[in-house]
Amino acid sequence: MRLMCMIALTALSVSVAAVPVDAQAEALEAAPINEYNAINHPVIGRNGMVASQNAAATTIGVDILRQGGNAIDAAVAVGLALAVTLPRAGNLGGGGFMLVHLAEDNRTVAIDFRETAPSLAHRDMYFDAEGQVDEAAYRFSHKSSGIPGTVAGLDHILREYGTMSWAEVVEPAFQLARDGIVVTDDLASNLRASKARLTQNPASAAAFYKADGSEYEVGEVLRQPDLAWSLEQLRDGGADAFYRGAIADRIISDMEAHNGIMTREDLAGYRVIERDPVEGSYQGFDVRAMSAPSSGGMHIVQMLNILDHFPIAELGYGSADAMHVMAEAMKLAYADRSKYLGDPDFVDLPVRQLTSRAYAAELAAGIEMERARPSSEIAPGDLSPYESPETTHYSVMDSEGNAVVNTYTLMFSYGSGVVIDGAGFLMNNNMGNFTLRPDIPDAFGLMGSADNQIAAGRRPVSSMTPIIVLRDGVPFLLTGSPGGSRIITTNLQLLVNVLEHEMNIADATVRPRIHHQWQPDRLEVESGFSPDAVRMLIQRGHDVRAASAMGSLQTVLFDGALFYGFSDPRRPGAMSLGFRP
Ligand code: DON
Repeated sequence: MRLMCMIALTALSVSVAAVPVDAQAEALEAAPINEYNAINHPVIGRNGMVASQNAAATTIGVDILRQGGNAIDAAVAVGLALAVTLPRAGNLGGGGFMLVHLAEDNRTVAIDFRETAPSLAHRDMYFDAEGQVDEAAYRFSHKSSGIPGTVAGLDHILREYGTMSWAEVVEPAFQLARDGIVVTDDLASNLRASKARLTQNPASAAAFYKADGSEYEVGEVLRQPDLAWSLEQLRDGGADAFYRGAIADRIISDMEAHNGIMTREDLAGYRVIERDPVEGSYQGFDVRAMSAPSSGGMHIVQMLNILDHFPIAELGYGSADAMHVMAEAMKLAYADRSKYLGDPDFVDLPVRQLTSRAYAAELAAGIEMERARPSSEIAPGDLSPYESPETTHYSVMDSEGNAVVNTYTLMFSYGSGVVIDGAGFLMNNNMGNFTLRPDIPDAFGLMGSADNQIAAGRRPVSSMTPIIVLRDGVPFLLTGSPGGSRIITTNLQLLVNVLEHEMNIADATVRPRIHHQWQPDRLEVESGFSPDAVRMLIQRGHDVRAASAMGSLQTVLFDGALFYGFSDPRRPGAMSLGFRP
């Protein structure tokens, strides 16, 4: 214990030189769980924290907190700013999920602003006459998009739970689009990599490349005048401008010019849905995560319930035993995902059964320690006995204890690649999260059921999983990540590393990750694990594959006294920033 304290003391004096002495003293006195075992260091704040994939957006969020805004105000401003600074995933033309925790009522609401299938969408819309999938239409066309929910989602939380005006929180994003952003290494290399795709559409080419077709160099200024126009319409006309007004006009005329199927009525009819989050508990903490049509929350709780049957902390992070148990739990959860998930407004979902402790006990009992069960031996579970009882994420918390976690997406990097002519924003290709046919895996190799096939007005099943973990009713840990099918397992490992292995959030984020999604039957492993442990996994029958970096967690932890933030180093450009008056 003494050694632990010394480590914590050394870590603090090295990592937070700019923090006043009283803050250091306070940190030590609080003896926070996350200062133990400190190899990596989170950022510290005293009155709130913002963690996002883009430094400029994070700074805007902290500025809003400084001006007296709450976490909701800051989250809306960050979401709009990311649409300008992180065009590959931040968006106006996509959708996603948020959890909003309201300190005063001790209540967490799940905000579903996922895209809906247009009214003219139908099950077979992406199959050609020969029964083949028309990839271009499916992924990269005006037909690839669901009705965007982002603007409605942000508008909704601000009206319901914010304190600032819509115009105030739109203004910073508007200015960034009008005055320009300095092109970072991240943005320059990303736009270079996506050039062939983005230049197919003239409005996209004009938005992201110079008039002569050349690329922006690092350090140059990218101005987005059409996007600035859209943000100005939004600032002055509210969300109505997007769904009924001048922006809607531009969306629909672009759709009409390019064989899109989205109609004016589709836009006007878009609705945000408030849902109850999925709830579970682990190691004495309350876990709240996004409910369906996200699959993530249910399966996070399901996997935590399974892990509860094993001494994970004792087995140790990175041990073959701990990795084996987690991989087996992942397979079981993803097998269920393939069968049971759909839009809860169209199909009945067995949420209670999937998240029940009795079902997890049965699944846990089937895990063998010395042998990886081949996925072919695993099928979606029989739930009948349990009837009774490029995406981006950011996390924001304020000094009152309000918190917002938002994961939203265009689906692929830069979505469908389609910028709406004259409106400057990219459209999503989240129609790709529907199941085309139960025997056709999605872009992430995930299998789905008929319950997730395309139907007008339906929302596609998603892996996006914003999470809030509460301790004694107060937000303790906020997290989320991009990564397609790897989102759920990335989040799981962050929770296990913090709650079970008592790592600080920096350590918990940096440590290498594994991923198994049932099908295909292979265990993906990031670099950095002990070769001995990997060999033991292979001996047990896991088909181990070296994998590139998974996910990009943006995490905030509040220990009751201080706020800690950490942005995953796996993707460049992110920043966590604490608010200290
Ligand atoms: O909702 C989903 O599950 C996907 N549209 C997420 C896509 C994604 O995370 C891609 N980014 N890394």
